[in-house]
Amino acid sequence: IGKNYLFFTEIDSTNLYAKRNELSDGTVIVAEYQTTGKGRRGRRWISNQKKGLYFTIVLKENIPVNEITVFSLIFPLSVKRAVEKLLKIDGLKIKWPNDIYINGKKCAGFLIETELEGNEVGRLIAGIGINVNQTEEELKTIDIPATSLYVETGCVVDRKSLLASILNEIENSINAFDKKSVLNEVEQSLLWKGENVIVIDENIEGLLVGLTDTGGIKILTDNGILETFVGDLTLRRV
Ligand code: BTN
Repeated sequence: IGKNYLFFTEIDSTNLYAKRNELSDGTVIVAEYQTTGKGRRGRRWISNQKKGLYFTIVLKENIPVNEITVFSLIFPLSVKRAVEKLLKIDGLKIKWPNDIYINGKKCAGFLIETELEGNEVGRLIAGIGINVNQTEEELKTIDIPATSLYVETGCVVDRKSLLASILNEIENSINAFDKKSVLNEVEQSLLWKGENVIVIDENIEGLLVGLTDTGGIKILTDNGILETFVGDLTLRRV
């Protein structure tokens, strides 16, 4: 990963760049800032402060379509591992399907897009955005509770070193990809496990039990255990 490395001071979105261009397997596109950063579910991702880490990895692995959800968990897992090792902190939580939270606030988001070829993934475009050195003041422009590595540790983080560690972790995770161990590791740091949650748009409410063996989630509702592979979680405040 990263043998083909493209750096832009300014770009619309590293994911859009990846989608527009023919790029080799493992290409990494990094931007100092993005003018129209994209989030999941059509949201935007504010990334104009030159203090975060914004990058996209293009993969042409042959991933069977039914393994995409589990495979995609590699990305938050690798970011969590890299951050915890580099900054010697712990307690990073993975919010299903793929966000990273620290102390109840969002610190990183992942936009995983796939282009299918039959029953396999032709290209997987993994966009990763991390709040790194933003101050509390600078995070106020984000419309959900957000935090940065700087706010959490009080240390300014070298974004290049962080990127290098993350790419290493991702490469290792891909080479050693094992569904069960990915699911186990994510399950151990699953945000809101055992709490009452709502799956937005899916009309499911109940206790978050854990992950299914394909990377979806199990929710204990009044009508028994339901499984879903789509949607976004929020905490149910009672
Ligand atoms: C989300 O939490 O909704 C996903 C955010 C993903 C943001 C990253 S930043 C790099 C890449 N380029 C984009 O336009 N989006 C992703």
